[in-house]
Amino acid sequence: MDHNEWRGTVLVVDDNEDNVDLAEQILEDDYDIITADSGQACIDMAAAEQPDVIVLDVQMPGMDGYEALEKMQTMDACKNIPVIFLSARYRDVDRVVHGLELGALDYITKPVDDELLQAKVRVAVRIKRAEDLVRQQRAELSVANRDLKSFSYSASHDLRAPLRHIKSYSEALLEDYAKILPQEGRFMLERIATSVQHMDLLIEGLLNFSRCTVTELNKVEVDLSLIAEHEWVKLRQGEPERQIEIDIAPGLSAVGDKSALSVVLYNLLDNAWKYSKNTVQPSIAFGVMTEKKLPVYFVKDNGAGFNMANADKLYEPFSRLHNQDEFEGNGIGLATVHRIVQKHGGEIWAESIADEGATFFFTLGGG
Ligand SMILES: Nc1ncnc2c1ncn2[C@@H]1O[C@H](COP(=O)(O)OP(=O)(O)OP(=O)(O)O)[C@@H](O)[C@H]1O
Ligand SMILES: [Mg+2]
Repeated sequence: MDHNEWRGTVLVVDDNEDNVDLAEQILEDDYDIITADSGQACIDMAAAEQPDVIVLDVQMPGMDGYEALEKMQTMDACKNIPVIFLSARYRDVDRVVHGLELGALDYITKPVDDELLQAKVRVAVRIKRAEDLVRQQRAELSVANRDLKSFSYSASHDLRAPLRHIKSYSEALLEDYAKILPQEGRFMLERIATSVQHMDLLIEGLLNFSRCTVTELNKVEVDLSLIAEHEWVKLRQGEPERQIEIDIAPGLSAVGDKSALSVVLYNLLDNAWKYSKNTVQPSIAFGVMTEKKLPVYFVKDNGAGFNMANADKLYEPFSRLHNQDEFEGNGIGLATVHRIVQKHGGEIWAESIADEGATFFFTLGGG
């Protein structure tokens, strides 16, 4: 044993004082020893002192070792402390198995062998430390994750206020001083307004993106066809004069979060609509097929498509496969869709041939 290591604490529990003394002698070089002489005293001591391991006699009057272990496993303060049983009945396999099934880490039979007890305690302490570390790191990770989520949400939220100021002051400037501004100055102000508008859309995209990680899903039975119809109507309002064929399969039901799935369908339909704007006879379909007995939903268009070699970039935030002057966008839509689908336990993938169209498929996992 490495003596520089921090000394662990062992709780030795036995109603027989000689046995306690013996275990103490064997272990005291390497560990701080605390003792108890009954099942109840063991529980109280373990909860108060948080030893690294408990060496627990099975047979004690009143509450025996098994009962004490069972009680401790229901207590937050004790359930993570490893227990080594001390059993006199070394032939009684059933009882040993029973103890291990109750959650004991190991057992040792009396009369106690010095080196065996030392070795088993050493292993138990090591396991306890490793488990403590994992528990601690897991706790830290979940705090860090939560902080990160709320950070990106509040950062994008807070960016909006100063942006609104820039917007309203440049509008006021244009309104109140347009006459005394030279043409070039007015032009500059218009450029500012366009950039502000672009940034506002970017922030909104970011906000939706982080919102979908922060908010818990509220899964219910939803009618995807109705959602698609609804999002389609919203989309068309932007360019009502555009002619396009749309086929939304009726009655597609699923289990999921209604508002999150609206975001999914909005973005997929928005893309289908946007990337088919140069197509002669554009058509879009929303439907379902069955694969391995599971529904696979799809949104299909006959628009610009993309090169499948770049398909792995589709879902990265801010990554785009088309130029801004060709098709406008922020590159955040599919990243958001991807997250929502993943949160539902589903998957998303796409198939496309450049200049012929694209189909996006998604599943939603089990209910
Ligand atoms: N139906 C589609 N047809 C062709 N290319 C597509 C289609 N859907 C997505 N893409 C490609 O994937 C990229 C990422 O899509 P995504 O929806 O994330 O961003 P975007 O549409 O550019 O911007 P926005 O954030 O406004 O949605 C797009 O820039 C485009 O190149
Ligand atoms: Mg998009």
